[in-house]
Amino acid sequence: MAGARGEFSSRLGFILAASGSAVGLGNIWGFPTQTANNGGAAFLLVYLVLAFALAYPALMAELVIGRYAKANIVSALQQVSNSKASRFIGTLTGFAGIITASLILAFYGIVAGWMIAFALAPAASLFAAESTTDWLTGFSTERNMIFMLMTTLIISGGVRNGIEKWSSRLMPMLIILLLGLIAYVMSQPGAIEGLKVYLLPDFSRSIDLQLIVAALGQAFFSLSLGVGTMLIYGSYISKQENIASLGRTITLIDIGIAMLAGLLIIPAMYVAQYNGVEIFDAAGNLIAEDTLIFTVLPALFDTMGGAGMVISFAFFVLMIIAALTSSISMLEAPVSYVSEVHGLSRRVSAFLVGAAIVLMSTLIVINFTELFGFVIAVTTRYAQPLLGLMLCLFAGWIWHRNQVLTEIKAGFEQAEHSLFWKIWPLYIRYVCPLAIAAVFAQKVLG
Ligand code: TRP
Repeated sequence: MAGARGEFSSRLGFILAASGSAVGLGNIWGFPTQTANNGGAAFLLVYLVLAFALAYPALMAELVIGRYAKANIVSALQQVSNSKASRFIGTLTGFAGIITASLILAFYGIVAGWMIAFALAPAASLFAAESTTDWLTGFSTERNMIFMLMTTLIISGGVRNGIEKWSSRLMPMLIILLLGLIAYVMSQPGAIEGLKVYLLPDFSRSIDLQLIVAALGQAFFSLSLGVGTMLIYGSYISKQENIASLGRTITLIDIGIAMLAGLLIIPAMYVAQYNGVEIFDAAGNLIAEDTLIFTVLPALFDTMGGAGMVISFAFFVLMIIAALTSSISMLEAPVSYVSEVHGLSRRVSAFLVGAAIVLMSTLIVINFTELFGFVIAVTTRYAQPLLGLMLCLFAGWIWHRNQVLTEIKAGFEQAEHSLFWKIWPLYIRYVCPLAIAAVFAQKVLG
């Protein structure tokens, strides 16, 4: 292993792995409910603008730094630094990224554990194993461990035999399940009303600053930015690939799947309403977050009789797949650091880091009310955008412009004369840092 660094076998291999990272619970769960609660297509428009204008450039910063340095986020930021001070800041930023990735995985693994439980619980109850059903739907830590074990095993397999192999198997399944579920839900009474809520813009909401903050956070989370995940995946791209077009493809797939998921979740809620399930909360908003997934949708599946069982299983398997291809990318960020910098084998690094994250997960579960929401807020609302900002500063100000161009030109000879090179450097130098700082200031100042 050592010496010969891992690399994706092909362009498609990278696309499946990186879109597997991007497409996760954020797309299938977060995006549709945010859209429905923030003015439908009005939110969608703001989201599209932010995703292309801010998230895509930030994604490119990570991919380019990663492929240039061929290393984990800490070593990579050290490599692009040009002074003692920037090296120090790079090291700090890298560590903060790795810790953020681990914390995100700690709560993500808990949520994914619930998905496993909800996928298996109906089958368990069918075979009358009541204790098993209780264990599954009860509040056990073991479920999170099953998910973390799957994640760790895949990562211990390495880039080609772990990440790429499993992403290539799981991503097609995800798309088939998603399309199948959409087709079924759309054929149910009530679905069309949901479709209208989702797709017709309510422009009274679109200038709302809160909405812009929400859309930016969603875009950064959805593209897995700021914590070194995309950077390390970028480090496994061959120098023959056109990295600007790869980044664009990942952004388009991520947005595309999020929009598709909206065609499933929002109509499903209105089908549930048609079937007599309550879908609005006291404030008149569509029920979102955990209640949506673990109460509203199961109630809907219950009204569907025998078909409901199959649909329920398919839905939660979809969620597990989405979560798994994302969680492996989160784990890869700290694991690549431990194995590259501390010289441990990939297997040992994966299990050590995996165990540490299980520990964090367990702490969160034990202190659920205090920690769960807190960790989510700190990592996704604050750490991620701030770290994204730092990475833009590194790519835009600290790293030498000529080196950046040389790196992009590998696999994209005409880069210098492309539209990309006319716009992107300005974006990561000025537009992204200022916009992120503005949104962040607004958030802190209230
Ligand atoms: N993008 C994934 C989602 O939408 C989650 C994810 C994967 C992530 N890797 C990440 C989020 C790194 C933040 C940082 O669910």
